[in-house]
Amino acid sequence: FQPKSLAGRRVLVTAGPTFEGMDPVRGITNHSSGKMGFAIARAAREAGAEVTLVAGPVSLPTPRGVARIDVTTGRQMLAACEAEALRAHVFIATAAVADWRPAESAAQKIKKDGSGEPPVLRFAENPDILHTLARSERARSGALFCVGFAAESHDLLAHAQAKRARKGVPLLVGNIGPAAFGRDDNQLLLVDEGGHRELPRASKLSLARQLVNDIARRLPAASLV
Ligand code: C5P
Repeated sequence: FQPKSLAGRRVLVTAGPTFEGMDPVRGITNHSSGKMGFAIARAAREAGAEVTLVAGPVSLPTPRGVARIDVTTGRQMLAACEAEALRAHVFIATAAVADWRPAESAAQKIKKDGSGEPPVLRFAENPDILHTLARSERARSGALFCVGFAAESHDLLAHAQAKRARKGVPLLVGNIGPAAFGRDDNQLLLVDEGGHRELPRASKLSLARQLVNDIARRLPAASLV
């Protein structure tokens, strides 16, 4: 009998884009499909974990056995993650959180005022969810293992290494985005303190299963949890 690699672990995953409103009908978002994060949530569940998936606005079915929390904005995603992370053992941040949100959201739809002058949008910086959780007491004590993602268009290894250091996470997973957005396949580069390892092109579900098993091997022995 081979015990499942994440049995007894609680895993928190973010997925999809965020939507940051500027009035009741408009806002800014991005092309993240959520497919990689949903595949990771499914793979973690298959590996025996108790999984919570915090999802931005996407229309994907919830993987079987996964608890899903739907959010819209980056700030809502942070709040949900901070609450869930208190009991999680692994946090995997795949969501493409908007870096900036409109500084104010108008209560009513912004109308053309006839002057020919377009409105000027001011932005405020969104919280960095991964960085926030990676700095938390639970992560620093080793009880919460944080994994980041990086979507880069070039120089993937150098950018992924720099991002790993900047975010303060033990494992950073690079992929070639935005080419990966919406596709069913991907290829990943796992970057840790000691070096890097490539997971060659495969379906997102196959890569998710490989990643989950890799993460499981990095966790402290279950008796310490
Ligand atoms: O800084 P950048 O967006 O390139 O970093 C990507 C990683 O950080 C991903 O793991 C993403 O989910 C996470 N992130 C986050 N909160 C943000 C921005 C990025 O958790 N506001």
